[in-house]
Amino acid sequence: MAKDYVADNLAAPSLDHLFPNMIEVDKSVSTWPWLRRDIDHAFRVDRRNPIVGFINRDEASILYSNARLFAGRRGLEIGAWRGWSTAHLIASGLSTLHVVEPLLADPDWRAEFLEVTHGAGGGATTILVPETSPEAVTRLGQSGVRWSFAFIDGDHDGDAPSRDALATAPFLEATAMVLFHDLVSPHVAKGLRGLEQRGWNVMAYQTAQMLGVAWRGEVAPVAHKPDPTQRWNIPDHLRGIAISGAMAGG
Ligand SMILES: C[S@@+](CC[C@H](N)C(=O)[O-])C[C@H]1O[C@@H](n2cnc3c(N)ncnc32)[C@H](O)[C@@H]1O
Repeated sequence: MAKDYVADNLAAPSLDHLFPNMIEVDKSVSTWPWLRRDIDHAFRVDRRNPIVGFINRDEASILYSNARLFAGRRGLEIGAWRGWSTAHLIASGLSTLHVVEPLLADPDWRAEFLEVTHGAGGGATTILVPETSPEAVTRLGQSGVRWSFAFIDGDHDGDAPSRDALATAPFLEATAMVLFHDLVSPHVAKGLRGLEQRGWNVMAYQTAQMLGVAWRGEVAPVAHKPDPTQRWNIPDHLRGIAISGAMAGG
């Protein structure tokens, strides 16, 4: 069994009981080219669809801790799968959470997802949006919704992460944060770079799949210490982006 890592200064809520089908698997089950198989951190999936991974505990602690900075404010999630990351966002205390996930159009998927959101304490505050991004984000934004915190983990291919980021940005508050999962993919990194080019501060977190954070206004992202037992590298497409807790250039 691989291990779990959470940095000393961070914590993640205990939500495993809401996911009875979550199992740890060997990373060889996934054929995704950007999965970092050399990082010895536990990789968990739903046993019914084992090729799609959940964010790991290191990443969940960073998501939860950054979202907590926005407790009482509105949040947006793009790409929620079975609700693991959603449950962490709910636990962080966001006032409302829009969840854009096309799989929620399936009645069985939605029913199970609702059990998760209720179990995490977000029954009254989570707004399920069974549509695709970026169209749904634009529709919501044009209807007047504004968000302070956004988590992007939806379509990872081609320009999709950039489109999600650039569709979300116009509808974010003056003090806001956007967190991306899977920054090891150059497609996802383009989304972060797109916000950087528009004046946002950016940073990366050195985790199994890497997280990217963009922020502006009266907030700063939480610090993180990468697991000292792992041999980390920085993909070429992230050159020049600061890594939380790493020495300059390291
Ligand atoms: C890797 S999974 C998300 C995992 C989740 N964040 C977690 O850790 O629990 C990616 C999700 O993005 C969804 N997705 C794909 N294309 C999308 C789109 N255009 N808009 C919103 N979600 C999308 C997929 O259906 C899938 O559920």
